Amino acid sequence: MHLKQQAAYRAVDFVESGMIVGLGEGSTAIWAIRRIGERIQAGDLRDVIGIPASIHIEHEAWRVGIPLTTFDEHPVLDLTIDGADEVDPDLNLIKGGGGALLREKIVAQASRREIIVVDDSKLVDQLGTTWAIPVEVIAFGWKSQMAFLESLGARVTRRMKDGAAFQTDQGNLILDCQFGPVPNIDLLAEQIKARAGIVEHGLFLGLATDVIVAGAEGLRHLRRE
Ligand code: A5P
Repeated sequence: MHLKQQAAYRAVDFVESGMIVGLGEGSTAIWAIRRIGERIQAGDLRDVIGIPASIHIEHEAWRVGIPLTTFDEHPVLDLTIDGADEVDPDLNLIKGGGGALLREKIVAQASRREIIVVDDSKLVDQLGTTWAIPVEVIAFGWKSQMAFLESLGARVTRRMKDGAAFQTDQGNLILDCQFGPVPNIDLLAEQIKARAGIVEHGLFLGLATDVIVAGAEGLRHLRRE
């Protein structure tokens, strides 16, 4: 079994009947969604309802037979399973490689438990080491936000897809910001968030309660102290 699949399957062991579950985006989290679907179809899980973190995952959840709900009905989630692009030793994350960072953060903040599933290539000493921090901006004034992010020290590129600007599920743009390893991640997060026109950034600080890491030597379960 692929490492991503192993991590995702372990996370699904924590899903219990009756739970409201956040369904994350990405090539790792999707294994969890399929596994939850299998367990529902097998009758092993009952009355589990999902809230998807993207339109893509909404379609996948329907496909595998997970009943869905909305925040109108269920503003608090029991547990979310999602992926990440980088994980630091304090379980802080970079997310948004798939562009779903805003909905993913809304789901994470509404969840009692946020289980992140990764392979061990995602572990870093400092966030920013291998991955750009995605920043979602509205289209109006986006070049001004680009210049602002550059003034904070990033090399910034507007995310593209099929030759056109990538659009999030909200119709916004993504600016990928390469900072390199960031020593004071809390300060950077505050600075980015304070700027008008920036909707959200992919720094998930203090949100993950658990990280399940799959590596050649097996699975590790890291928990927030
Ligand atoms: C989606 O927007 C992301 O936050 C993903 O969860 C993250 O990029 C990890 O993706 P993979 O599991 O595909 O590596």
